[in-house]
Amino acid sequence: MKKLGVLTSGGDAPGMNAAIRAVVKAAHHYGAEVMGIQGGYQGLIDGAMYPLTLSDVENISNKGGTILQTSRSLEFMEDTGRMSAVRTLRECEIDAVVVIGGEGSLKGAQKLHQLGVKVAGIPGTIDNDMPYTDYSIGFDTTLNTVLDCIGKIKDTGFSHSKTTIVEVMGRYCGDLALYSALAGEGEIISTPERKLDFETICHQLHERISSGKKDNVVIITERMYDLPSLQQYIEEKLQIEVRTMILGFIQRGGDPSAFDRVLANKLGVKAVELLIQGQSGQAVGMKENKIICKDLETIDQASINKQDDYQLLEMLLH
Ligand code: F6P
Repeated sequence: MKKLGVLTSGGDAPGMNAAIRAVVKAAHHYGAEVMGIQGGYQGLIDGAMYPLTLSDVENISNKGGTILQTSRSLEFMEDTGRMSAVRTLRECEIDAVVVIGGEGSLKGAQKLHQLGVKVAGIPGTIDNDMPYTDYSIGFDTTLNTVLDCIGKIKDTGFSHSKTTIVEVMGRYCGDLALYSALAGEGEIISTPERKLDFETICHQLHERISSGKKDNVVIITERMYDLPSLQQYIEEKLQIEVRTMILGFIQRGGDPSAFDRVLANKLGVKAVELLIQGQSGQAVGMKENKIICKDLETIDQASINKQDDYQLLEMLLH
């Protein structure tokens, strides 16, 4: 393998830059050059790429976001878009592509693989919603950012005896809410895996308020409720003032944690090594502290049972 491309796709995640650096360093180690594809799959279609040298990736591991920029390319979702991407790769004599992104992005890599392109996938998403791997790059940093925000909300919530609904990201995965509630002493939590209805949220809040606990944080995963309706329901039912905080993009930015940087380095090197060995169609990940590979085809077939963590939370909340 002489030349490989690397791209980041979907939502950016802290630690993506460390993964890009690891890919460039490892490729250099094995005598291959690297093309940085700009703006995700759209850049692949448009031929937006440039050589990524060792000096280009110096001092980037500590930076959030992605130096390659990213996109959610609608064109790439169509056959014609993917064929253009394959043509670009052939024209630029790129032998293989490393894709860093979430599940949709890695599924895109699988499509390229089916079209005869050599690919390796690296899980990069704050959502941690790919159960084939215990962690995706970015999750740990975002969890710490969410914790920081919840801590601040709790400071002022206590001082004013206020109830606050805090909406965190995660798409359809409750990990950010679950672990920020565990680590941040969230009082009530609702996630896609364990969704509470308005009535139950009110009931739990009422119990806490009647026991004298007037500052409460309700942590919920995005996309589950109409937030103004939830706030109004609680206010009317319990006759209390409620504030809603949507943490939003603050969660996606910021300097990556040590954990995410180390993970990114390990996964970046492994992805390049697979391609050097002539393997294609694999996603790299981490299971029980070991670096593993999984067929891109089957990444959505794994599942992790978080029941124990939910039970633990249950015990600690009440
Ligand atoms: O997948 C990462 C993520 O931040 C999700 O948590 C969130 O639902 C989504 O991306 C937001 O996407 P966009 O950047 O398109 O608003």
